[in-house]
Amino acid sequence: MWLNGFPAVFLLPLHPHCVFPTGLAFDLRNSLYGQHLASEVILKAVTGFMEDNNPSKPLVLSLHGSSGTGKNLVAKIIAKNLFEGGDLSTQVHLFIATHHFPHSAKVDTYKAQLQQWIRGNVSVCPRSMFIFDEMDKMNPVLTDTIKCFLDHYTQVDGVSYRQAIFLFLSNDGGRVINRMALDFLKAGKEREDIKLNSQGLETAINNDLFNNKNGGFWRSSLIDSNVVDFFVPFLPLEHKHVVMCALAEMHTLKLAPDTAIAGKIANDIPYFPQETKMFSVKGCKSVKQRLKYYL
Ligand SMILES: Nc1ncnc2c1ncn2[C@@H]1O[C@H](COP(=O)(O)OP(=O)(O)OP(=O)(O)O)[C@@H](O)[C@H]1O
Ligand SMILES: [Mg+2]
Repeated sequence: MWLNGFPAVFLLPLHPHCVFPTGLAFDLRNSLYGQHLASEVILKAVTGFMEDNNPSKPLVLSLHGSSGTGKNLVAKIIAKNLFEGGDLSTQVHLFIATHHFPHSAKVDTYKAQLQQWIRGNVSVCPRSMFIFDEMDKMNPVLTDTIKCFLDHYTQVDGVSYRQAIFLFLSNDGGRVINRMALDFLKAGKEREDIKLNSQGLETAINNDLFNNKNGGFWRSSLIDSNVVDFFVPFLPLEHKHVVMCALAEMHTLKLAPDTAIAGKIANDIPYFPQETKMFSVKGCKSVKQRLKYYL
């Protein structure tokens, strides 16, 4: 359920059964552009978790990258493939830090509501997914609240959270990822040869999160407590990916693919760094909105 603020009926009974259709690999391959690292990690992590009948803890994935690179898209793809109704399923819960928890003075109320919401839903359907967007803006008290659900406990107050999935989305770590990608391409290497471990990317993200004094992760104990199973990097998108996004948007709108218009949209958006203009500043973010003006 994509929440529009906390509803009055906070502990509504939820969908009684959980459905797990397949197709995750297909969707990641066909709908997510330029993210070979994220695709690989997500597929392995989610598939492994779903195949494990007795997981020792909930699956916790932390998605990092600059704006418009596909983090929310991946959350939707996972939801689509694990839950009937996709991101509209009553088993899927989205929290946006600035929208659901805007006032720091109300943090104690939010904390109680959040605990109740997670507990209530997991006790009805253990296979629930909780997506926390804008983790970089999350109040650390709330991050700590969530942390209690993520560890290897058999039960917390009579409820087991081991079947649940938690996704954290943030722009934290984006600068490190972008710098690594830039150095890599500048050295004449192929984007697809960027590896999670060989470049020390995951460690670098981890360090960046830990050292970023303004980020939501640093101020919380999420990193310290090692409850995150995978830090998933989203690479900055290139011109060719923006073209693909534009063509995909035309397909969604049932329009004939027009590569000339897609190219024009991709040409007109801003790129960085100034000298080489290698990556789109906002990924594919404004492509949908811009398409209207080019048709
Ligand atoms: N790698 C990608 N492949 C295909 N489409 C993408 C990709 N990245 C972004 N898009 C498209 O661009 C739009 C914005 O993407 P999305 O909301 O997933 O970005 P985000 O990473 O969550 O950004 P932000 O950090 O600003 O929230 C969506 O319409 C999405 O479908
Ligand atoms: Mg997003």
